[in-house]
Amino acid sequence: MNETGPCTVTVLDVVEETADACSLVLGVPGELRDGFAYRPGQFLTLRIPGAGGAGLARCYSLSSAPGVDPHPKITVKRVAGGAGSNWICDNVRPGHTIDVLPPAGLFTPGRLTGDHLFFAGGSGITPVISIIKAVLAQPEGTAVLCYANRDESSVIFAAELRDLVARHPRRLQVIHWLESVQGLPTADALAALAAPHADRDAAFVCGPEPFMDAVAQALRSVGMPGDKVVVERFRSLTGDPFADPAPLPAETGDVTAVRVTVTLDGDRHSFPWPSQTPLLDLLLSKGIRAPFSCREGACSACACRVTAGEVKMLRNDVLEEEDLADGWVLGCQSVPVSEDIEVTYD
Ligand SMILES: Cc1cc2nc3c(=O)[nH]c(=O)nc-3n(C[C@H](O)[C@H](O)[C@H](O)COP(=O)(O)OP(=O)(O)OC[C@H]3O[C@@H](n4cnc5c(N)ncnc54)[C@H](O)[C@@H]3O)c2cc1C
Ligand code: FES
Repeated sequence: MNETGPCTVTVLDVVEETADACSLVLGVPGELRDGFAYRPGQFLTLRIPGAGGAGLARCYSLSSAPGVDPHPKITVKRVAGGAGSNWICDNVRPGHTIDVLPPAGLFTPGRLTGDHLFFAGGSGITPVISIIKAVLAQPEGTAVLCYANRDESSVIFAAELRDLVARHPRRLQVIHWLESVQGLPTADALAALAAPHADRDAAFVCGPEPFMDAVAQALRSVGMPGDKVVVERFRSLTGDPFADPAPLPAETGDVTAVRVTVTLDGDRHSFPWPSQTPLLDLLLSKGIRAPFSCREGACSACACRVTAGEVKMLRNDVLEEEDLADGWVLGCQSVPVSEDIEVTYD
């Protein structure tokens, strides 16, 4: 167990948020707290032991805020027919232990003191309320939240949001949208909500796919630049990030021709790099504690920089053009292209 690999946390409390959503308050052992430090809006990856056989893992955003809430907390909403969410809501009780990967993710503001706009739909409120609480804990910074739900009974954190508005009436504005009353939020309707706030420092968007599409269209139509819009897409992992890396192929012929030198935590390591083996798998199989979370190119926990040579990524759902131009790559998706490669995680 280490600060970049899986660790076991204890469920301190289970909170029924609505009829189909619950929060798990997590106890992190003292020796793991440093590795468990998180930024508002980040998520954890959980091993789901009892659902769908071995190898099921799911990501859940932290709804707590660092420095505000005493313990990390995740919030899970049931998805009809879903293996992981229903298993958690049906089975997890205080005192249970859960294997998790450390906090990861880029859905987090660079600066908490700015003026932020948030669009959340349903369980998309989870990372958003984390950021809002962190913003309000600063001496300055404001938040406008447009929050869409099916009906009043499905509004997660309704009371907590009311309390935050009461305590920070000049810094937090919450605009609820209820499908039962107003119908589905269209791009035009969302644009009308966004228009007075189009000059904000950043917009954070999380919710069901059609909602996110409508918000993206709305923000474009009110002239908010794309580089100010940060989105988080909730999707289920298809692989098992807790699994041991596949055994390395025999290091023969062209395979041994490729060499990688990796700097991590101030140490330099040099290995032959088999052509089809992702860098992360190579490092884990050599006992190097490189960081990771999803292992599917979706979270950036494994991001590192190529300082010499060339790699290619098998998949990349998170790094932007400017990151790539700066040499950033995803360790879990990188395979070698050139013969001598240098990579740094520091
Ligand atoms: C970064 C991140 C953060 C997240 N944060 C949160 C959060 O804070 N809260 C939250 O509730 N969720 C969050 N999620 C989503 C979460 O990880 C899961 O995707 C969600 O809980 C659904 O998982 P599930 O196992 O219940 O459903 P799944 O088993 O993945 O099923 C999803 C849907 O697909 C259908 N389905 C499954 N298999 C098939 C098949 N073979 N053919 C056809 N249909 C199928 C199911 O019936 C169901 O409707 C997050 C995801 C990511 C990536
Ligand atoms: S571990 Fe998530 S992108 Fe590599």
